[in-house]
Amino acid sequence: MNRLNFLKQISSLFGISIITTYTLESCNSNELDEDQNVLTEDEIIYNDLKNKTTENGKYLDGRILYVDITHDNFSSLNTVGEFVNDYDNYILILRKSDDLFQTFSNCCPHLGTFNQWSYSNGSFRCSNHGNRYGTANGAISNCGSGRTSGNLKQYVTTINQDILIVDFEG
Ligand code: FES
Repeated sequence: MNRLNFLKQISSLFGISIITTYTLESCNSNELDEDQNVLTEDEIIYNDLKNKTTENGKYLDGRILYVDITHDNFSSLNTVGEFVNDYDNYILILRKSDDLFQTFSNCCPHLGTFNQWSYSNGSFRCSNHGNRYGTANGAISNCGSGRTSGNLKQYVTTINQDILIVDFEG
């Protein structure tokens, strides 16, 4: 993600006033890194997110979830084809390829089971009744709708260095 897109995303998350605050703080205090270089706005925001995800690897701010994929709680995401079922936020986070992370509702479209998922060959399988659901866009099968096929509901997921940004509005 380039700098402009990142700032746009952050500004939509926190509101322009927060960006302004960050800007003013960076101008006023000239936050420095360990080599005494003045931090950029991007670096200040990134460092703030790293601090907020230190405890358990994630930080929920309204409808935006930040996940530090270097945290032990999300170490599965270091491997392509692995996923994390985050019960707190009702989501499955999948590392689909080296560069692509996807986030889905963990609610089975069939009867709503959330904790019996496995992943292989591009789809999730719920072992409660053995139905499989895809990871593509469109043809969404919603939580507990009784459907036995289709794709899981997906949330827009981007990455800034090693922090995933999941937009529950997306
Ligand atoms: S509840 Fe998931 S397949 Fe039936």
